[in-house]
Amino acid sequence: MEAILLNKEILLDDETIIVSETDKTGKIIYANEDFCKICGYSKDELIGKSHNIVRHPDMPKAAFKELWKTIKSGKNWQGIVKNLAKDGSYYWVHAKIYPTYNINGDRIYVSVRVKPTTVEIEYAQNLYKTLD
Ligand SMILES: Cc1cc2nc3c(=O)[nH]c(=O)nc-3n(C[C@H](O)[C@H](O)[C@H](O)COP(=O)(O)O)c2cc1C
Repeated sequence: MEAILLNKEILLDDETIIVSETDKTGKIIYANEDFCKICGYSKDELIGKSHNIVRHPDMPKAAFKELWKTIKSGKNWQGIVKNLAKDGSYYWVHAKIYPTYNINGDRIYVSVRVKPTTVEIEYAQNLYKTLD
């Protein structure tokens, strides 16, 4: 059985860039090496799934509601997100999501995530405590 490491933090380094793409329903259609390296899932495990595979229980529903409302309206979204790795440890990211279209004209979403500052993490942590 794998150990559950709920309190262990994975720190991104300055070079890490986590990239993924989804279809319009949020199903993952692309994941880069850094995404797999940090979250611990293989590409095979990620493709076809929702990003809620890395959802952390500390993240409030309201944050994702706002995220989806923003990107569905065609606007870019950015925020500080706490994610859950496969082994139960967690990692914070500064995430940006860009709505765009694939070659067939279908809506897709592209997400790029980098290391957040400690100030961003503290701010998000305090804000999320106040949200459902
Ligand atoms: C491009 C893209 C990237 C996303 N990245 C994440 C992510 O890294 N972590 C996360 O918890 N949710 C992410 N989401 C939001 C999830 O789709 C989902 O709304 C969220 O995990 C909450 O799960 P739920 O909607 O099943 O409640 C992303 C959505 C999109 C469209």
